[in-house]
Amino acid sequence: RNHFEGSGTLSGKQALVSAGPTFEPIDPVRFIGNHSSGKMGLALANTLATRGATVQLVLGPGVQPPQHPSIIVSKVRTAAEMYDRCLSLFPAVDIAIMAAAVADFSPKETASEKIKKKDNGLTIELQKTRDILKELGRQKREGQFLVGFALETNNEEVFAREKLSGKNADLIILNTLNDEGAGFGHDTNKVTIFDRNGEQTAFPLKSKEAVATDIIDYIVNKLNA
Ligand code: CTP
Ligand code: CA
Repeated sequence: RNHFEGSGTLSGKQALVSAGPTFEPIDPVRFIGNHSSGKMGLALANTLATRGATVQLVLGPGVQPPQHPSIIVSKVRTAAEMYDRCLSLFPAVDIAIMAAAVADFSPKETASEKIKKKDNGLTIELQKTRDILKELGRQKREGQFLVGFALETNNEEVFAREKLSGKNADLIILNTLNDEGAGFGHDTNKVTIFDRNGEQTAFPLKSKEAVATDIIDYIVNKLNA
């Protein structure tokens, strides 16, 4: 027990948050990654902890871990490592929020030695990674609340609703990319929450901390309803 326990609307609750990118190795010195800063997931973990929850944070590479006594950090590197860690932590949590930008593809084979320059370029064969959120949706029990994100460039609402039902999530948080200052690499974000009950709530552009507050407030309202 720590001195934060017992205070806040989420005291006694266990949460799981994934955050940051994943790096998929090509050879010992190269990888396929993405531009996720992890900021949205870190803001969510901090907000959950501030409200009294104990947070298991599964954090991708290159992101500075937060310092909070109620946040337990598991550092991972690849999509496969993130999958294993999230799946093993999920049975014990009340709330899971998958905010990581997980690679959809990873090299079929990782070269054991550095790949040398060739005359005619290089072709790397990729295979699909496993979908963590979808698997959590499959394993979800009564009383567990599951939240995912969606990043779309077109048909946003249709694709967000497809992810909500296809992954058996309770909420999908749609990141709006076509506004300036929102999304990857920014300190601000603009989201719409898609609820499995059919409701849709759009929020204005805000700091990622303020967006995290909106999302956690929304979840707390659902848990209390
Ligand atoms: N996600 C995951 N595991 C993966 C891929 C995605 O858990 N291997 C999660 C993300 O963390 C996010 C949600 O699924 O919460 C949606 O991610 P997104 O990339 O928008 O959708 P995908 O299902 O990967 O589909 P696509 O990229 O083709 O749109
Ligand atoms: Ca994806």
